[in-house]
Amino acid sequence: MKTERDSFSSKFGVIAAAAGSAIGLGNIWKFPYIAGENGGGVFLIVYLVFILLIGIPVMMSEFIIGRKAHKNVFGAFRELTNSGFWKIIGVMGVMAAFFILSFYGTVAGWTMEFLILAITDSFSGRDAHEIEQLFSTFSEGAYKPVIFQIIFMAITALIVIGGIRKGIEKYTKILMPLLIVIILYLDITAVSLKGGGEGLRFLFNPDFSKLSPKLFIDALGHAFFTLSLGMGVLMTYASYFQKDTNLTSTSVSVAMADTIIALLAGIAIFPAVFAFSTEPAAGPGLVFITLPNIFELIPGGYVFSILFFLLLAVAALTSSISILEVVVAYLSEEKDISRTKATILAASAITVTGVLCTLSIGPLSDFLIFGFNIFELLDKVASNILLPLGGMLISIFVGWKMKRHIVIDELSNYGKVRIASIHLFMFLVRYLAPIAIFFVFLHGIGIIKI
Ligand code: PHE
Repeated sequence: MKTERDSFSSKFGVIAAAAGSAIGLGNIWKFPYIAGENGGGVFLIVYLVFILLIGIPVMMSEFIIGRKAHKNVFGAFRELTNSGFWKIIGVMGVMAAFFILSFYGTVAGWTMEFLILAITDSFSGRDAHEIEQLFSTFSEGAYKPVIFQIIFMAITALIVIGGIRKGIEKYTKILMPLLIVIILYLDITAVSLKGGGEGLRFLFNPDFSKLSPKLFIDALGHAFFTLSLGMGVLMTYASYFQKDTNLTSTSVSVAMADTIIALLAGIAIFPAVFAFSTEPAAGPGLVFITLPNIFELIPGGYVFSILFFLLLAVAALTSSISILEVVVAYLSEEKDISRTKATILAASAITVTGVLCTLSIGPLSDFLIFGFNIFELLDKVASNILLPLGGMLISIFVGWKMKRHIVIDELSNYGKVRIASIHLFMFLVRYLAPIAIFFVFLHGIGIIKI
């Protein structure tokens, strides 16, 4: 099956596309809620260390492989090695994409519902408790959240079929900075709330007694999730990079932009949680319960709430298309199915699993596997197991399997840019990243204790 390959026209286009995939619900919805569940500040520190020492080197590794091979994740390993073993990265990636998009669609559906609530001015006059009620009644329902999920998945599929993602990415460059401006506005309001300081302390003052194996696994899984790492998304994007794209600085920019947005979201949310006496460990509903309270307080809150949920849905969309693409690339390039058919097939199958995730919040909430509902289970398996394992293999591939001169050629654009420290990079991908991931796993399943 032949696929057209073109490349991004500008440097900023490259970064915008990769950042569009990375920045999404992970930053604004997931980061605050799992930081809240894991005690705040101490989670933040572990998470930042993982981004720096594992996330960035693994992202650079995906970029190196993708640009060198000029292929998606399956083709790439076929191109670069004779061994069939590395296919496993692609196989795990497809599974992870399937699982992630299932629950991602649930949350994106909630975002759309909240957009409608914002448009119909439904937050005004409600206190924090009533907004919490509004969220649980809606998300535990059997119809509305499912309908919004289906609509979101249909839009995702249409964009992937229509090949209009370049168009979307063009708008991303304007829309994402706008989202940042709105979050900054929320930040300013949130930190000046009475009692808000408590929230900042929660986020920035580490309480080391909260360290636990679960915290390490959650932080590692989230570092991968939020940067879109470990399943070949960024590898595929890098296959479209130009020869002069600087892989190191692109990785650092994407990781920085992603981290800053997550921090800004946290700075808006935790002060509000404490000021309105809601619960930092409220779980997946945290953002939806907390932010409407702030919109009620700020001048122009009506308009800003609409803009916020609209832009959050767009941010979710630029991530969801990158996730769907992994499954579509697999079906169309490995199984020889046309792209349109592959997209319809993948999106439909994912929507079916996705509906189960959505229903597992309400009607199916008693159905538990290993103590998790379906939503949580798919998230844990994908984010905390499949993505880090994929990342571990990717870094081992670049560290041990690829020829060192190829790695140097890619990082230096064939001698055109200076590499800060190849020794440091090689140390990170050969030893530190794989060993740290392995260690967090053993620690998480209780084999080793510290
Ligand atoms: N990084 C995206 C987010 O933070 C989610 C994602 C995960 C996208 C894995 C692609 C691959 O929302």
